[in-house]
Amino acid sequence: MKQSFSLLFFTAWALLHTGSGRDLRTVTEPKNPPICTTLKPSSADETKMIQNALHSCAKGKAVALSSGVFTSGSLVIPSGVSLLIDKGATLRASTNPKLFDRGTNTCGTVDNSGGGCKPLIAISGATGSGVYGKGTIDGGGNSKLTGSSMTWWDLSSKALAENKAQNNPKMILINNSRDITLYQITVINSPYFHIQSRQTFGFTVWGVTINTPSSTRNTDGIDPTGSMNVTIAHCSISTGDDNIAISSQYAASKYISVFNNHFGHGSSMGIGSGTTFGVSDVTVTNLTMDNIRFGLYIKSNTENGGLVTNVTYNNVCIYDSPKPIVVDMHIARNPKNHTPEFNNIYFNNINVLTKGNFVFRGISKSNMVQVALKNVHIIKGSKWSVTNAKIDGTWTEDASSKSCTNPASEYLINNKNNFDLST
Ligand SMILES: *[C@@H]1O[C@H](CO)[C@@H](O)[C@H](O)[C@H]1NC(C)=O
Ligand SMILES: *[C@@H]1O[C@H](CO)[C@@H](O)[C@H](O)[C@H]1NC(C)=O
Ligand SMILES: *[C@@H]1O[C@H](CO)[C@@H](O)[C@H](O)[C@H]1NC(C)=O
Ligand SMILES: *[C@@H]1O[C@H](CO)[C@@H](O)[C@H](O)[C@H]1NC(C)=O
Repeated sequence: MKQSFSLLFFTAWALLHTGSGRDLRTVTEPKNPPICTTLKPSSADETKMIQNALHSCAKGKAVALSSGVFTSGSLVIPSGVSLLIDKGATLRASTNPKLFDRGTNTCGTVDNSGGGCKPLIAISGATGSGVYGKGTIDGGGNSKLTGSSMTWWDLSSKALAENKAQNNPKMILINNSRDITLYQITVINSPYFHIQSRQTFGFTVWGVTINTPSSTRNTDGIDPTGSMNVTIAHCSISTGDDNIAISSQYAASKYISVFNNHFGHGSSMGIGSGTTFGVSDVTVTNLTMDNIRFGLYIKSNTENGGLVTNVTYNNVCIYDSPKPIVVDMHIARNPKNHTPEFNNIYFNNINVLTKGNFVFRGISKSNMVQVALKNVHIIKGSKWSVTNAKIDGTWTEDASSKSCTNPASEYLINNKNNFDLST
């Protein structure tokens, strides 16, 4: 009796809260901007040609890359200008680390600090810029670097073995910007993070495909940090590290909508581990994950913890994950006094179709993880590890379907050429 009463109470309460945390903008499907100039590939390094075209392009317009392979080092997209990578075109990251070097001569090496490379595409202090088109950005993580027998991914393995940091380029880094759009592009084989937004207000990622092998290190898919008004929709993300990781190392992250996405292999739909400035008002709706290390993952610690609140997951299906849901304030790090706090976290309509270990771990009796479960279906033989956690509602061991329906497939099949459903 007690339980059904509290479930009833919870249902009314959840209805009030569900959907409250989201991108405050009204976001609709983006449209490609008009073109200022169309470039054709040559066989040489095309960095200068593309960069000059971007600098000469009028605000509100895009430089188009027509079909063929363009090889480039680091590019800067000016404020208001966009890059359109057309169907059949590939923008390939050069294998020459010098073309990404920040001036320390360390890009393409392993050292103690990392961070020696500029990204392939930098958008910084810009308003209304973007990357559009049905073409591909190929990071070439698997290619040997100029004058070396190692690939970017070999450098990452070497860094791990030596307990150091690789200096590898990210593919798209957006910093201190507003109203940025990434639309329909495919990004593959990144040497490091695929897409990161820092301190950016107004960020839309729509219909984007990311595909990089699961064995690669630090190849996060999309990482918004210190960003607000973010929408990530209709994307397919398969990678070696977090598929999405929302953090707040430099500023708060809030008002984030993640809907109709599919994750193939990767590490998680993640929040953390840096949550110092707070992560709040995040809603994840219609997500399938297949072959994922951690499914829905909120992680922090006393080294870089903060408040994580108003997070809602609706309609999530998870297949083949050893840890389908983990809410953990305690991941091992150097303990400091940035104590995390995780509350108002709602799991609604979650189906986990394979056995796994569900982990909820707070700091202490006075600082517990606080979550609410509603319509959470799992299968028999799963394990629950609960320490210092307040869990409202419950789960049932009756998950029945045999597979998850990919909510991104319809959009991607209709809108992209050669979309491969296996990714
Ligand atoms: C978020 O979007 C809303 C609605 O458009 C706007 O009022 C608000 O200023 C935006 N927030 C930021 C930080 O840009
Ligand atoms: C990001 O923008 C801030 C403010 O303009 C600037 O100080 C910082 O150097 C930029 N960082 C990167 C990585 O571009
Ligand atoms: C989630 O999927 C349902 C069923 O397909 C759909 O009706 C709903 O609009 C989707 N939600 C969002 C936010 O797109
Ligand atoms: C969480 O949501 C509640 C209710 O909508 C709101 O009052 C509160 O300010 C939100 N918290 C944060 C940190 O945004």
